[in-house]
Amino acid sequence: MRKPIIAGNWKMFKTLPESVAFVKELAPRLGAYSGVERVVCPTFISVAAVSDALQGTGISVGAQNIHWEAQGAFTSQIAPGMLQGLVEYVIIGHSECRAYLNETDETVNKKVKAALAYGLKPIVAVGESLQQYEAGETETFVGGQVRAALNGVDAANMANIVIAYEPIWAIGTGKNATSDLANSIIGGTIRHTLVELYGNEIAQSVRIQYGGSVKPDNMFDYMSQPDIDGALVGGASLKVEDFTRLVEEAAKAKGV
Ligand code: PGA
Repeated sequence: MRKPIIAGNWKMFKTLPESVAFVKELAPRLGAYSGVERVVCPTFISVAAVSDALQGTGISVGAQNIHWEAQGAFTSQIAPGMLQGLVEYVIIGHSECRAYLNETDETVNKKVKAALAYGLKPIVAVGESLQQYEAGETETFVGGQVRAALNGVDAANMANIVIAYEPIWAIGTGKNATSDLANSIIGGTIRHTLVELYGNEIAQSVRIQYGGSVKPDNMFDYMSQPDIDGALVGGASLKVEDFTRLVEEAAKAKGV
């Protein structure tokens, strides 16, 4: 069975002291839910302290981005080796990075390979715009993003990859994709693309999250879908109470 994975993407929220205080309050509340993988993704400046505060709690840390080079003259960037020992996961290709930081399918692919080379597990975000959705282009576009992100990634590495399907029109808008629609893109388009690339056995083992206006109140609905293995959550991961409920609902829906 695929272990459910709930990741909180804190984006550009929370100072360092706020981040540390948050996880110290969160960790004991999530202790009972070891059947769900729980991940917090703070800003870079908080990664080390949050990682320290979460030692021994079973809760993992993720970064929100990386550069693909090992080091160099790339002002403002963070190399994968700098995150080793601090994070287990790294979000790659978030739609906000694609929109505001010129992230492309090509840079996503370089980052995925760089992360894997350093033992970091990519959470690869894909998803279509409203315009593409309305034009009926979702399947072609999302399938293409998955292929491009995984170009040159061998089958052995797929155990270390999580994919997050986040329709851009559902992020931070309160306009979520229905759970049936999300499940059909995840189970149909994305998992089907993985079958073509890696065969059925590996495709069935890869975890695929949904993201976009996930809240405690709709979490159960999403997680009750057979192909949705977790969620990448922005806004609703910023409060301890909500984060706790997200994990509780996921555990309940998956029976873990
Ligand atoms: P949201 O963000 O939950 O606030 O819609 C999700 C994301 O961008 O990962």
